[in-house]
Amino acid sequence: MSDLFHQINPEKLPAHVAIIMDGNGRWAKTKGKPRVFGHRNGVIAVREVTEAAAEIGVKYLTLYAFSTENWSRPAIEVNALMALLVDTVRKELATLNKNNIRLKAIGDLQKLPEKTRKALLDGIEQTSKNDRMTLILALNYSSRWEIVEAAKSIATDVRDGKIDIGSIDTDLFSQYLTTRDFPDPELMIRTSGEYRISNYLLWQAAYAELYFTDVLWPDFRKNHFYSALLDFQSRERRFGKTSEQLAEAI
Ligand code: IPE
Ligand code: IPE
Ligand code: MG
Repeated sequence: MSDLFHQINPEKLPAHVAIIMDGNGRWAKTKGKPRVFGHRNGVIAVREVTEAAAEIGVKYLTLYAFSTENWSRPAIEVNALMALLVDTVRKELATLNKNNIRLKAIGDLQKLPEKTRKALLDGIEQTSKNDRMTLILALNYSSRWEIVEAAKSIATDVRDGKIDIGSIDTDLFSQYLTTRDFPDPELMIRTSGEYRISNYLLWQAAYAELYFTDVLWPDFRKNHFYSALLDFQSRERRFGKTSEQLAEAI
């Protein structure tokens, strides 16, 4: 294990880390290869980070694998990404089970190609009993889509007399989101030197600590992940309070 690993306080880990895996295309370009080459190498980083997160004791890891907006990319890239997903989920299944990791997905899965959806649902089913860590793939995911869907479901339940308007609060609203079974992410990482959220977990990341790194996703390794955790542990999370109030509470 590396030095960085040993510096991490296991008592102060974020329960949920969300990652925007970005920079695959640019990584491939620096090597004079097609964008798909970057996506394929991105899988290595996925494997590393999943293993690192599980080993250290993170309970939930959400990876942004494909946004709703990504459908506007060239068809050749979209098709390659969907095929890569099928391949990866199938190939990694044994490792997920060996490492006791449960697979989950958030997003509009109905609109995925049949093969991709099937591989994903099979993976979810075959790992459903694992309880060391939950790996959540955000696939055909968009926060605005998710929030609008929640609003529609709440409106339907009000209409059908299942809930009163007066009972709608932030807790109830959270129960209508695709992430209802997971705690909010406490740390959000984005690679590749871009500083934006790109429609990812807008509601859930209300109080997440944000961490940006210039590393392109295919180069992201365990030590990069540990650096992000260490940075997280150096932050003072105030949740609207003052520093003095936090000191008094200890
Ligand atoms: C992230 O890398 C992977 C996906 C969005 C699927 P990109 O494909 O966005 O790579 P860049 O940002 O163009 O370098
Ligand atoms: C965000 O990356 C989506 C994923 C990582 C899957 P993008 O590369 O699509 O985001 P933008 O377009 O740069 O905001
Ligand atoms: Mg990108």
